[in-house]
Amino acid sequence: MNSLFFLTLFLAFIFQTSVNCNDIPGPSIHYPFHIKGQQQQQQEYDTTLSGFELLHKDNITTIHFPSYGDLVVKSISYDTKKIDLLDPKNCVHRVFLNLNLTLTPFQYYYVLKNFTYLNCSTRLSQTKFIEVPCLSDSSYHVYTVDPELPMPSSCKKVKTIAIPFKYSPYISDNSLGLRLTWDLRESEESKEWNKTRDSHIARYTVLGVGICIFVVATLVGIKVHLSRRNFHKKEGPLLHSVADV
Ligand SMILES: *[C@@H]1O[C@H](CO)[C@@H](O)[C@H](O)[C@H]1NC(C)=O
Ligand SMILES: *[C@@H]1O[C@H](CO)[C@@H](O)[C@H](O)[C@H]1NC(C)=O
Ligand SMILES: *[C@@H]1O[C@H](CO)[C@@H](O)[C@H](O)[C@H]1NC(C)=O
Ligand SMILES: *[C@@H]1O[C@H](CO)[C@@H](O)[C@H](O)[C@H]1NC(C)=O
Ligand SMILES: *[C@@H]1O[C@H](CO)[C@@H](O)[C@H](O)[C@H]1NC(C)=O
Repeated sequence: MNSLFFLTLFLAFIFQTSVNCNDIPGPSIHYPFHIKGQQQQQQEYDTTLSGFELLHKDNITTIHFPSYGDLVVKSISYDTKKIDLLDPKNCVHRVFLNLNLTLTPFQYYYVLKNFTYLNCSTRLSQTKFIEVPCLSDSSYHVYTVDPELPMPSSCKKVKTIAIPFKYSPYISDNSLGLRLTWDLRESEESKEWNKTRDSHIARYTVLGVGICIFVVATLVGIKVHLSRRNFHKKEGPLLHSVADV
């Protein structure tokens, strides 16, 4: 009975340490992401992969891009390497205009196309020009247009940049288009995979040894118990035979 008790404790210990409790609301965060100020191997990634650091404040998980600022992390899909973000300022086209992913491990998940941002002092009357409301004001009007288009005289070119889509009032959502994918350097990923594999091997070895010890302990216990009974059985007739003499 003792060995069963210890085995239970032992198994409880193993499983408790293997379950990663994620009591923070929002997306579940694990490698290659980590929350700033939490978790072990932080220094290992900080220098090369700063893009993987997330911030957690008031139940909101955000990721910081130096070229734009903070974006809210809506969800992360680790197997398909997708991270869905949303713009807290609700202006996806401002994110597209400013976000520069060149020095980060991220890329847009979508096929990109070049568009030119125009900043115009007068409102363009042609219906093919649709003003981006969150980038415009009463005194200037911002448009996303095909780079080939001749530039109207009242406009200045802000930037031509590859983005998922041009502005449309039908897809003015604060998250549409803000899906990124990431690409770790090969060795980084294989190292992490090896580490996970090694820790699994270690855990199952410990578990296996634990079960073996339990089985052996049980068998020894049964054997001792049986041999005691046999001893008592043999003892009886032996005493009789001695008395008979
Ligand atoms: C965060 O979420 C928890 C549980 O969902 C809630 O109890 C807490 O009040 C929230 N905190 C803030 C700052 O919103
Ligand atoms: C993005 O940043 C890189 C490196 O800082 C720079 O070379 C590149 O021109 C930038 N791209 C855009 C579209 O601004
Ligand atoms: C956008 O234009 C630049 C410069 O002309 C070009 O190098 C790049 O390949 C274009 N990107 C796309 C997605 O067409
Ligand atoms: C457009 O131009 C106005 C005034 O010239 C400026 O304040 C504004 O920041 C510009 N917007 C963009 C997106 O370049
Ligand atoms: C991971 O393990 C494989 C073989 O098991 C080895 O070839 C590879 O070099 C290891 N990767 C790292 C980064 O240690």
